[in-house]
Amino acid sequence: MKICIIGSTGQLGSDIFHHIPGEIVGFNRPEVDITKKETLVKAFEKERPDIVINTAAFHNVDECEEKPSEAYLVNVEGVDNVASVCKDFDSTLVHFSTDYVFGLDQNRKTPYTEEDRPDPCNIYGMTKFWGEQIVRMTLPNHFIIRVCGLYSIYSEKNFINTMIRLAQRGKTIEVVADQFCTPTSIRDIVDMLSELVYTNYYDTYHMTAEGEVSWHEFASIIFGLCPSLTKKYGALEKVDIRPCTTEYYRRENKQLALRPKFSVLANVKINQLPLTFTMPPYFYGLGEYLGDKHKNIFDQSAFAEMFFNMKTQEIDNEEETSN
Ligand SMILES: NC(=O)c1ccc[n+]([C@@H]2O[C@H](COP(=O)([O-])OP(=O)(O)OC[C@H]3O[C@@H](n4cnc5c(N)ncnc54)[C@H](OP(=O)(O)O)[C@@H]3O)[C@@H](O)[C@H]2O)c1
Repeated sequence: MKICIIGSTGQLGSDIFHHIPGEIVGFNRPEVDITKKETLVKAFEKERPDIVINTAAFHNVDECEEKPSEAYLVNVEGVDNVASVCKDFDSTLVHFSTDYVFGLDQNRKTPYTEEDRPDPCNIYGMTKFWGEQIVRMTLPNHFIIRVCGLYSIYSEKNFINTMIRLAQRGKTIEVVADQFCTPTSIRDIVDMLSELVYTNYYDTYHMTAEGEVSWHEFASIIFGLCPSLTKKYGALEKVDIRPCTTEYYRRENKQLALRPKFSVLANVKINQLPLTFTMPPYFYGLGEYLGDKHKNIFDQSAFAEMFFNMKTQEIDNEEETSN
C-alpha cells in the first residue's frame, strides 16, 4: 500500500512519516500546496497513492481570527481540493480535525462523542468543521480523525517544551486552570492509525488519550515528573506556577480567539472497533515523551509514584461508584 502524507514535515506528519508501516511518500510545500489543486494533481499522477493522510492546516488559532480568509483558503478550500483529487484517483483519505469543532457551550462538563453536534467558538474551529463536511460530502472512503493537544518528539513547539523552557528561565508561570482537554502524544495516534488505515471502517473518529486535565494540572504534573528542573538550573526552590482564568490569560496575552472551556473527546467509535491497540491514559504518553525527549530531567521514580497514586485513586473511585 502506498501512503502519501500531506504536511509530512509538520509535527503530526513527521511522526506518521517515520513510524507508520507501508510505502511512505511525503508531500510538502512548495511542490504540494493544498490551496493549489494543480500541485496535488501533479503529485497524485506521479505517486498514485492508495491512501492519503492530510495533516496540513492553518491552525494558529489567533491568527485565524486575524486572517479568516487565509484560514478558509487552507482549512476549507484546500481540503476541498484534497478530497476531490482523492476521489478522482480513488485514494482513501485520512483527514485530521480537532476538538475545537466543539466549545461554544462554555458550561459543558461531559466529554463530546462523535454524535454530538459541532459548535465551534472560533474561526479555526468553524473552518475545520466545514473542512470535515466537505470530506464527508465528497468521498465515502474517508477517515476523519479529531485529535487534541498534540505533542511529539519531532517538534520543539509544544506545551510541554514551553513549560520546561519557562521553568528553566526561572519565570513565574501562569497557566489557565479552567480549560479542560486531553493532551495526547502523537505516538499513540500513530499506533492507532497504523491499524485503522488498513481497514475499511470509514467514519469520523475521536482519537485522544484517555482522561481529562486542565492545562494548569497538566503543567503541575510535568513539573512533578521533572523535580530536578529547578534545582539543576538553580532558579527557584520550586517552579513558581500559578493558576489563572481563561479571561485573565486572554486579556494579558491579547489573545483574539475564544477557546473552549471544555473540549474533552470521548473515543466512543474507535473503542467499538475490533482493533488491538487502545488509546492509553494521557499520563502514559507524557511519561514516554519525557523519557525520550527530556531524559536528563525526567524522574522515573517520580513517574512510578505518581502512576501508583493515580491507579489507587482510580480504584477508590470505581469502588465508590459501585457501592
Ligand atoms: N497541534 C495540535 O495540538 C492540534 C490539535 C488538534 C488538531 N490538530 C490538527 O492536526 C493536524 C496537524 O497539526 P500539526 O500540529 O502537525 O501542525 P503543523 O506542525 O503546523 O503541521 C502542519 C503541516 O501542514 C503544512 N501546511 C500548511 N499549509 C499547507 C498548505 N497550504 N499546503 C500544504 N501543506 C501545508 C505545514 O507546512 P509548512 O511547514 O510549510 O507551514 C506543516 O508541514 C491539523 O489538521 C490540525 O488542525 C492539531
